[in-house]
Amino acid sequence: MSRHINIVEVGPRDGFQNLCSYLPTEQKLHFIDGLAAAGVRHMQITSFVSPKAIPQMQDAADVTVKSLERHPDLDLLALVPNLRGAQRAAELGMKKVANVISLSASHNQANIRRTHDESFAELAKMRETLPDLDISVDIATAFGCPFEGKPSLQSLLDFIERGHALGITEFTLCDTIGVANPAQVRTVVDAVRRQFPDCQFQVHIHDTRNMGMACTLAAIESGIDSVQTTLGGLGGCPFAPGASGNTATEDLVFMLHEMGFDTGISFPDLLALAKEEVATISGVYSGHHINIKAPGAAA
Ligand code: COA
Ligand code: ZN
Repeated sequence: MSRHINIVEVGPRDGFQNLCSYLPTEQKLHFIDGLAAAGVRHMQITSFVSPKAIPQMQDAADVTVKSLERHPDLDLLALVPNLRGAQRAAELGMKKVANVISLSASHNQANIRRTHDESFAELAKMRETLPDLDISVDIATAFGCPFEGKPSLQSLLDFIERGHALGITEFTLCDTIGVANPAQVRTVVDAVRRQFPDCQFQVHIHDTRNMGMACTLAAIESGIDSVQTTLGGLGGCPFAPGASGNTATEDLVFMLHEMGFDTGISFPDLLALAKEEVATISGVYSGHHINIKAPGAAA
């Protein structure tokens, strides 16, 4: 049996949040439908954030309700920055959310306007008040921060410990600005898996320096079974100067299949979808490195 890798498509959240113009809900749903038809089982479909911060996500409720209706068998989740977002997601029937907190204190302020203490206090409340909700933590800037540079490994372990103490056992190590390298990924993944054997880890690697595939593969070869990518390499962070697109789903799936891994996804369907959908959304499909900045976002 070949080893199975879960591909977690985050294009409808990380990709769309960076588009210059508003994508109508129907088009978002069409994208999600296409991914599902290609065999993608895990998707971060939206975020429950302030529409002032991310106008693109103003239809989060609609996208959630309709996606849950159309794809009851899929593993769907939403990103939330605060308790209010988690409550809203849960009310609408979402079973799973990712609470984003940045390892770097300055990026946490820039992104969600909270100190670490405030974020962890809110996470504790989330855990307490929504006991049936599956809550994971997206650790932004886990490998490097646009304001603070490379974090120490100890600071990451301490951060995970704070979440773990609140009962969180799923974490995503996010390379928000694409500055990780494969050696660093191996070191970090080995360390977190050793220190927290009861936890599940994913990686989410931006492709700024063309290292998304190498870093994601390094994580897989270090034992990680679920990785986040975006169709067409869409993506970026409006609150992280320099953040580029993500590792492209179709590129990773192609490589993994060629290497003998199983993803359950049809590569031809995925590629056709990337060409059609990403070209429609962005006006261009170049294969990868799609990086469409929101107006006002730093280059
Ligand atoms: N969903 C929708 N609206 C929300 C919200 C949520 N989860 N949380 C807060 N808001 C609204 C409030 O109603 C308020 O709106 P108003 O100005 O019209 O009254 C506004 O956002 C600010 O509310 P406040 O409670 O002061 O929020 P805050 O300052 O504590 O937090 C965040 C701000 C976190 C909500 C905001 O910065 C945000 O949504 N950031 C998103 C970051 C992001 O998605 N980054 C990219 C992905 S990593
Ligand atoms: Zn991202």
